[in-house]
Amino acid sequence: MARVLSGVQPSGDLHLGNYLGAFRNWVADQHEFDAFFCVVDLHALTLDYDPALLAQKTLETAESLLAVGLDPSVCTLFVQSHVPEHPRLTWLLECTATYGELRRMTQFKEKGGEQQETVRAGLLTYPVLMAADILLYVADRVPVGDDQRQHLELTRDVAARFNHRFGDTFVVPQAEVPKVAARVMDLQEPTRKMSKSVSSPLGTVLVLDPPEEIDRKVRKAVTDTETEVRYDPVHKPGVSNLLELLAASTGGDPAELASHYPNYGTLKADVAEALAELLRPARERLVELHAQRDYVESVLAEGAAKARAVAGPTLDRAMRAAGLHAPPGGFSA
Ligand code: AMP
Ligand code: TRP
Repeated sequence: MARVLSGVQPSGDLHLGNYLGAFRNWVADQHEFDAFFCVVDLHALTLDYDPALLAQKTLETAESLLAVGLDPSVCTLFVQSHVPEHPRLTWLLECTATYGELRRMTQFKEKGGEQQETVRAGLLTYPVLMAADILLYVADRVPVGDDQRQHLELTRDVAARFNHRFGDTFVVPQAEVPKVAARVMDLQEPTRKMSKSVSSPLGTVLVLDPPEEIDRKVRKAVTDTETEVRYDPVHKPGVSNLLELLAASTGGDPAELASHYPNYGTLKADVAEALAELLRPARERLVELHAQRDYVESVLAEGAAKARAVAGPTLDRAMRAAGLHAPPGGFSA
């Protein structure tokens, strides 16, 4: 069975964009593939973060993934820092990747900005840690959003270079294009992606938002000065985003759905209701999971053990291939 791996940063509250753009696909993938999903807490250290909150956000992110439907009886869910093979393989791969190729990564340039001298070295090498996340699991397919494609290309280059120099060690993975190319836009600024880092929380629907909150955000969503409901992403980005959300929740077609609505008010009422319905099971499950901390911890412990059972032998192979002297019992004992 082909293997899938993906990762998410422990940024706490998941939003509708994460759900429709990524996690809904993960939930479907777990039934089709041997699936590994990882909360990548080590990646969170590359930018400023609050150490008092990191552990809690890591746990909340895992809870949210379970709440939206990841099922630990069919997939492996784990925390990156619980599997020491990740940073160990990263070192081998850092000695395979080049400074030039890392410096050219778009996300490094964006996040590093003008601070070339004071930016953390980890921000530069972060794509190599991501490569290790993937290569350790001999993953064939990696579902990622557009912004991560370049990092996946790097992973492929590094894997191929390692194989070429040291002999066949890694599977060169493929990026997996989401089945529905969902790009959920901000409700207040419909020309930018919904994201947790925007200044206006009104523009972002969280998976955890209760129906009243979803209703309030959708009713305040920015549209335009016309009155006609029409699907036209270029000229009517706000209304089109609402139609896409309705289509993503109910399975219809955005252009066709538009014809049912005489005005923005009726459209907004239906969008709010559809989103509340779409997110309701996850919200209810999350409340239950919050009260079952031991269960969540046991899922993560089991996940880490399953992950290590795959990652350990890969690390061992790679260390030996690179010519290191193996201790008795091998590198992953
Ligand atoms: P992030 O929270 O940006 O790290 O994203 C986690 C996952 O959610 C990635 O796979 C993204 O591609 C996806 N994602 C984030 N925001 C959106 C959005 N507004 N629309 C669609 N997918 C998104
Ligand atoms: N870098 C990814 C992001 O910021 C998260 C990530 C880390 C990841 N390791 C991964 C995604 C491995 C896919 C596979 O969204």
